[in-house]
Amino acid sequence: MAGERVLHIIGSPRGLRSRSTRVSRRLLARLGVSAEELDLHATDLPALDAAAIEGRYALVEGREVDPIVCDRWRRVRDTIEHFLSFDTVLFSVPMWNFGVPWRLKQYIDIITQPDLMFNVDGNGVTGLAGGRRAILVCSGALDIRPEEPGEEMDFQTSYMKAWLGFIGITDVRIVQVRPTYGTPARVEEAMDIAFQEVDALAESLLRAPRV
Ligand SMILES: Cc1cc2nc3c(=O)[nH]c(=O)nc-3n(C[C@H](O)[C@H](O)[C@H](O)COP(=O)(O)O)c2cc1C
Repeated sequence: MAGERVLHIIGSPRGLRSRSTRVSRRLLARLGVSAEELDLHATDLPALDAAAIEGRYALVEGREVDPIVCDRWRRVRDTIEHFLSFDTVLFSVPMWNFGVPWRLKQYIDIITQPDLMFNVDGNGVTGLAGGRRAILVCSGALDIRPEEPGEEMDFQTSYMKAWLGFIGITDVRIVQVRPTYGTPARVEEAMDIAFQEVDALAESLLRAPRV
């Protein structure tokens, strides 16, 4: 991964106490890369309100729009360009009410724009973020990871994978940190397993040449 640009998107607001972030940081340490961190709960993201959404159609049609709306869309485009400027994107993703935290969902809503992150034509949808790698570190109190009992309640890992596929990212590595609720011994065991998994992932990423 030498020379790759890596973005670490932090979906948990819990700072140093965040288990998903701790596991992600261990991965980055093992990889020996310094990633840029995007702490979504500490970032002022542009709002997609009624004015912004209507303004987008006005901009596309060349109609006059309020300078505030122009500024909003400039910030959306900047956010997309920033995301696309990385080779690997590492997401620290806690499960919140079976899905992803609202700040991460807001970020996804901002960057998933037609013509900028995906194209639609007669042949279907083409994601414009292809060629990149994503790593998901998914945490949750309950162990309802894919292929475990309760997986039908997972709208976190399955959603992230589906969305990444939609924007063209199919090289997706996943590490689960769960259960994070239970006896201290059980939670520490889950952390240990996750640390071992990211160590193994780091080794395989360092060995494998990019195709
Ligand atoms: C608002 C909120 C909703 C949550 N919903 C779920 C849930 O639906 N399923 C689950 O297994 N854990 C749920 N949890 C627990 C977190 O996923 C768990 O504590 C996880 O370890 C948090 O990751 P973090 O330490 O990286 O922040 C929720 C936590 C919060 C704060």
